[in-house]
Amino acid sequence: MHIYKTVRGLQNRLDQLKKEGKTIGFVPTMGALHQGHMSLVNSANEKADITVVSIFVNPTQFNEKSDLDKYPRTLEKDAALLKSNHCDIIFAPSETQIYPKDGLPKVGLDITHLIQSMEGPNRPGHFEGVVQVVHRLLSIVGPDYLFMGQKDFQQFTIIGHMLKKLKLKTKLIVCEIIREKDGLAMSSRNVRLTPAIRKKCSLLYETLTWCKANLNKYSIKTLEKKALEKLSQKPFKTEYYKIVDGYDLMPISDISNHKYIVACTAVWAGKVRLIDNMILKNVSSNKK
Ligand code: PAJ
Repeated sequence: MHIYKTVRGLQNRLDQLKKEGKTIGFVPTMGALHQGHMSLVNSANEKADITVVSIFVNPTQFNEKSDLDKYPRTLEKDAALLKSNHCDIIFAPSETQIYPKDGLPKVGLDITHLIQSMEGPNRPGHFEGVVQVVHRLLSIVGPDYLFMGQKDFQQFTIIGHMLKKLKLKTKLIVCEIIREKDGLAMSSRNVRLTPAIRKKCSLLYETLTWCKANLNKYSIKTLEKKALEKLSQKPFKTEYYKIVDGYDLMPISDISNHKYIVACTAVWAGKVRLIDNMILKNVSSNKK
């Protein structure tokens, strides 16, 4: 495994590997890696000849400067974990490598329709920042496959839209959510939960699971209302709980006209904002 810090160093190596006919799998991350990230690395190892993981805490996707400052930076630990998971290449660039002083061409992509709800209104500018950095990283790495987690449902939907609209040759592969034993979705933020609050965090998974089990029993409106009631327990404060069409992220009013349905939620657990989701119906792949 080798760590590259410059675009030129990385590209020299990748050019060589591509000439040898190797396929490239790419996993973009912001570091503070855990088993959720490793599942993407393992999928990349299975699918592609070479696995490239980027570690870059992208300033343009943070709404709060304090959130950016607080984001854990643990490169040494991350590198050790990646090595033991058979990652081939780490790309850990500085900010000027990603955002050169002379600027970058603007990504011509309209995502307005995909940021109307959920994370969009709650985090203004966030997805524009994500699009900008993933586009830049893809232009540097030029991978055959891009691995992203279902954990960030709206994020992978927007990036899938970008690949399609800009006719990029990279294929998106979405990996399932990796959870702790009690159901809490793994996240770099979980370490910031106090032990007392952490003990109660299975509530998100339990609520999503309940919603899935009762999809055919109640209307969408009632499901959302009951889910919000379940989540309205101290110390939790729900920002949203939405049941949407999994393709266009639009709110739905009944299940019959939709093949792919997902419930998404964002909840404050004390001072930590947790997001989670669950696919409630997916007829297209027969996964129910
Ligand atoms: P980060 O939060 O580090 O996540 C990197 C990738 O890991 C994302 O695709 C995310 O969905 C996935 N992931 C996180 N937790 C997971 C879990 N419990 N199970 C499965 N996958 C999980 O998402 C970002 O970074 C950034 O926005 C990025 C795409 C790198 C752009 O800066």
